[in-house]
Amino acid sequence: MEKIKIALLGLGTVGSGVREILNEKQEQLSQKIYQKNGQKVTIEIAKILIRRPENYLEADPSLLTTNYQEILDDDSIKVVVEAMGGEHPATEYMISAMEKKKQVVSANKLAIAKSHGSLEEVARKNQVHFSYEAAVAGTVPILRTINDSLVANEITKVSGIINGTTNYILSKMTNEQSSYKDALKKAQELGFAEADPASDVNGDDAKYKIAILSRLAFGKWPDLDSIDCQGITAVTPKQIKDAKTKGKVIKFLAQSEKVNGNIIASVSLQEIDRQHPLAHVEGAMNAVYLHCDNAGELLFQGAGAGSRPTASAVISDVFEIIERYR
Ligand code: HSE
Repeated sequence: MEKIKIALLGLGTVGSGVREILNEKQEQLSQKIYQKNGQKVTIEIAKILIRRPENYLEADPSLLTTNYQEILDDDSIKVVVEAMGGEHPATEYMISAMEKKKQVVSANKLAIAKSHGSLEEVARKNQVHFSYEAAVAGTVPILRTINDSLVANEITKVSGIINGTTNYILSKMTNEQSSYKDALKKAQELGFAEADPASDVNGDDAKYKIAILSRLAFGKWPDLDSIDCQGITAVTPKQIKDAKTKGKVIKFLAQSEKVNGNIIASVSLQEIDRQHPLAHVEGAMNAVYLHCDNAGELLFQGAGAGSRPTASAVISDVFEIIERYR
């Protein structure tokens, strides 16, 4: 049985989910790879990059490192899973991994959107695979669907609920009359929010994700500054109640379409009809709604945040790399 060694950068919400699932499902994953292409391999986490070893006393110390160079210099590590978040040094770490001909998987919507295609360019140059299914809509396999399953379509519009934290807050305020503050606190406790939840509630997180979706759907990166982005911080219980009495619901929607060759994208609070397909997406669930010329309208829904749902998407990328690119 050959071992495919991977390195994990970060052991926070996403990284710890990846580690747990890989440990629990090692045998099943090996079986699935074997069933798919006859390879007998196991996936092994060979190194984990962390900042403070004293926070991970339960982990096998031989796996932990604070020195990224150790991972870069280890030629037996074929895949780097970036789960540290933030733009820097995550971007530089991904670039140097690809330059060392390592395959890279990332859940980092911020770094991917801000790189505006340059990370993909580095991957192309180095003939490695760079995949980031987990960066948009958590566990929902939306990027792969747009890239592969809908290849025979022109996508005309993408809309959706693509931030779990804000949808959770709005749902709690709507259904349980929670205060904004309590709902945000709970979202943080449940591991939905970013390390700094400002990027959830001010709309930046959803902006990065709609930029990635736009790139995949329309073949072009929108300028991040051109995305009209309003957060949810100004939402009031009265606004929510008023919408309810009108048979409507307030949702935080991201939308993008191509108009005369230009991408028009926005992230904002919207009052939508109770019959709208996105009206009943509750809690930390995300949903992406696509309009396609041949396939028609499609709706994809699932957990948009949280440790295991996001880790599930990360592992699907690792699996695909092993399956296709060895
Ligand atoms: N903070 C993000 C969210 C995590 O709430 O959607 C998943 O990207």
